Amino acid sequence: MNEHVAVSIAAGVSTLRIDRPDKQNALTSTMYDIMSDAFAFGESSSRVRCFLLMGMPGVFTAGNDINELQAFAEGGAIGDSAIHFLKTIASLDKPLVAAVDGIAVGVGTTLLFHCDYVVASEWSTFAAPFVDLGLSPEAGSSMLAPRLMGHQRAFELFVMGEPFDAQRAFQAGFVNKVVAAEDVEPVAEAAAMAIAAKPPEAIRTTLKLMRGERLDLAQRIEKEAASFTDLLRSPAARDALQAFIDRRR
Ligand code: COA
Repeated sequence: MNEHVAVSIAAGVSTLRIDRPDKQNALTSTMYDIMSDAFAFGESSSRVRCFLLMGMPGVFTAGNDINELQAFAEGGAIGDSAIHFLKTIASLDKPLVAAVDGIAVGVGTTLLFHCDYVVASEWSTFAAPFVDLGLSPEAGSSMLAPRLMGHQRAFELFVMGEPFDAQRAFQAGFVNKVVAAEDVEPVAEAAAMAIAAKPPEAIRTTLKLMRGERLDLAQRIEKEAASFTDLLRSPAARDALQAFIDRRR
């Protein structure tokens, strides 16, 4: 479908593979749009009963593309694509499985809070160092992370910028299963196919009951986006983004 996101459907599973390994699978607006479209299509298609999101062996995603963030900082507004993507995954009716092998930074970690089942390799690393970048959390994570793992562990993740290894992510509750790197994709695929084989109406109803209305989540995503945009214009964020870009040069 696109050279950086491959989408395929088989055995009731819509698989979205992020495929930009030369840039650590950093996500651009185009990539967000393709994923949003794939989720929207899957939600409406009877051929799809479960979604599976994966990166490449060795990298899940290093988060939002920093060059795009810098362009947004200069332009004074963030694009709609990331927000639309976040709202899309926050409102899915069908189950979402993720397979993580390697680095999951920023939205690479926060999107996992919207997944129903996450398989990670033992050497995977999860980080959301928003404060160190002069920014604040997104994807509804300011609400979901403290709920899931408690205020103090969420503080470690967002404010201290401490990376979590796979075991810690498992203990924190956003990884279901830790396996060897070579087993990540087969185990996640088997889980997605097992989910897809279950009665869809029963799954839909169960998830609806578990997730509730999610109106507060949509509102939180909006509120976070406004804060993120404000902070993106701040000297602290501009300096942090520029430092990363200069480091590359
Ligand atoms: N946006 C754009 N490009 C990125 C990127 C991002 N988020 N993360 C990595 N890349 C690019 C690098 O610029 C580099 O490109 P180049 O080879 O053309 O110079 C390439 O991916 C490889 O990255 P590199 O930093 O050399 O890999 P590493 O293994 O040394 O480090 C990370 C991996 C993920 C720790 C490091 O790349 C990083 O910190 N990335 C930024 C993550 C981040 O802060 N994301 C949150 C955004 S809100």
